[in-house]
Amino acid sequence: MSARVTILCDNTVGPIAGTLGEHGFSALIEWDGGSLLFDTGGGETLLHNALRMNRNLRSISAVVLSHGHYDHTGGLRQLLQLTGKRPVYAHPGVFAPRYRVKDTGEAVPLGIPFSEDFLRVLGADFDLCSTFRGIAPGVFLTGEVCRSTAFEIGDTGLYADPLGNLRDELIDDQSLIIKGERGLTLVLGCCHAGLINTIRAARELTGVQEVQAVIGGTHLGFSSAQQLDATVSALREFRVRKIYGTHCTGFTAAARLHREFPGQFLAAQVGTSLEII
Ligand SMILES: [Fe+2]
Ligand SMILES: [Fe+2]
Repeated sequence: MSARVTILCDNTVGPIAGTLGEHGFSALIEWDGGSLLFDTGGGETLLHNALRMNRNLRSISAVVLSHGHYDHTGGLRQLLQLTGKRPVYAHPGVFAPRYRVKDTGEAVPLGIPFSEDFLRVLGADFDLCSTFRGIAPGVFLTGEVCRSTAFEIGDTGLYADPLGNLRDELIDDQSLIIKGERGLTLVLGCCHAGLINTIRAARELTGVQEVQAVIGGTHLGFSSAQQLDATVSALREFRVRKIYGTHCTGFTAAARLHREFPGQFLAAQVGTSLEII
């Protein structure tokens, strides 16, 4: 199939006049005859940026939530107020309470900033599933990603309780896969499951080995230097053709990947639009 992925919300903006950035991510997936929204940003920029970029969000057929963090789900209220009833594809654990606990002991809530009931009233028709599934022609969700690497230990500051006793493993984290003629394109939310775990899972689940592009948040900006080193080595083996690391990739990891993969690691921000063949 051919498709287009366009970033509507991100931490940084490109050259499209009047678009705004926020800590968050959202991408519009369009194909011949349909479209869906992958994540909704934090709620400050989605509708504004879509308008600036001449994208009509009323025409999307569904919403995907990569995981239950506020910076990917905060735009749900405004979106549903615009679209009315729509299927919302997510993992059953998406509404779990979650926090970042600072060194000072302060707990910052990071979960979905709305209740499930409130979103249902607005028209969210939740379709919750933890396994791999197709959601549109040539478009799939990984479901829960098997944590197969030893080095992808992820973000150690995330907890399931405000006292910081129980680590949040983000089991709900999933990515979207577009199966094109030239291979797979992966759209990542934060990729808390690990970039290499996610690429491995996508290849195994689809039976397709070639990865044409990866676009979205890699969370490498919140992971250890050792994890970044091992990720660089593993990426070389996978021969991913293009990597558009953005959102929670962060400056340091992006600079390293840009140096390690010249011409293959590319900047992405609000307005970046990728044609997939
Ligand atoms: Fe995020
Ligand atoms: Fe996240």
